[in-house]
Amino acid sequence: MVNLSRDFFIALSNNKFLNKNAKRWGFRLGANKFVPGTEIDEVIGVIKKLNQAGISCTLDHLGEFVFLKEEAIKAKKQILYTLDRIYVEQLDCHISVKLTQLGLDINSAFCVENMLEILNKANQYNIFINIDMEDYSHYEPTLEILKELRKHYENVGTVIQSYLYRSKGDLEKLKDVRIRIVKGAYKENNEVAYQTKDEIDREFISLAKERLLGHSFTSIATHDHHIIQELIHFINENGVSQDRFEFQMLYGFRTELQYKLTKEGYNFCTYIPFGTDWFGYFMRRLAERPQNINLIVKDKLYT
Ligand code: FDA
Repeated sequence: MVNLSRDFFIALSNNKFLNKNAKRWGFRLGANKFVPGTEIDEVIGVIKKLNQAGISCTLDHLGEFVFLKEEAIKAKKQILYTLDRIYVEQLDCHISVKLTQLGLDINSAFCVENMLEILNKANQYNIFINIDMEDYSHYEPTLEILKELRKHYENVGTVIQSYLYRSKGDLEKLKDVRIRIVKGAYKENNEVAYQTKDEIDREFISLAKERLLGHSFTSIATHDHHIIQELIHFINENGVSQDRFEFQMLYGFRTELQYKLTKEGYNFCTYIPFGTDWFGYFMRRLAERPQNINLIVKDKLYT
């Protein structure tokens, strides 16, 4: 069994040289198991199939480590085009974006400008835009930008990570905002984040329960069946209405469970990443669950 550590894969995910060069390699290392295509037209069929099974989707046009304005503008144009395609094809699908892809590391006003353009079109099409949460150095700027954007548009929300000590307090301030709750995918130190699985899981459950008793829509994003079971129990006990929440998982993970929850009547949304910028995303998935590499190795041997 291949046994590589979380820190190793997180370090790879942050390696700018590898991220840049992986775009030229095409999919390698079995990444296509988790990233179904490089172009929107390649993934439309995947979305249609999921929609037919009653699963909605959120699309992430992969991209991070953007430090040039022209690259951020290119990313924005691709997202605008993706919105057009979702609308024309009448897909049950929203979009997830990362602010560093849209210029957050260049200039905050420039990033807001790009986001407003995206939100304007998404609003016309009645499509929701989720701002993914990145590492802690981008946390405060992301919440600031969200606040600014919500002065103009309501079809935007973000992600709260249960590993951060401050998440409970921040969630209080985001009562009216559609939120995705996750454990957190980056390496953060013990000054800002819980370090053990038990603490992070406990906090996830507590944040999710608080949201489920509130009035805004919540996406419960985890592959952890223990947590899902505990929350389903809570939902039933408290008569939480089905239209107030959904479960979310990443494309390529626990597919059977994704279909099972949908068949049981829960709203379900699959997060689908696409594009050439797959390296950082893929390494974070290996960091979360190094066993994923064994699945890929097996696939390579047997198919
Ligand atoms: P975790 O990896 O902690 O696993 C817990 C248990 O679940 C395992 O011990 C095992 O029993 C079971 N399990 C998990 N995966 C399995 C598998 N493939 N097969 C079988 N059993 C499995 N992060 C972030 O920082 N910002 C963001 O914006 C997002 N966005 C996001 C969207 C969506 C839809 C998801 C699902 C996740 C994110 N994340 C994220 C990533 C998130 O923070 C977290 O790193 C991963 O979801 C991994 O944690 P889990 O809760 O899935 O379970």
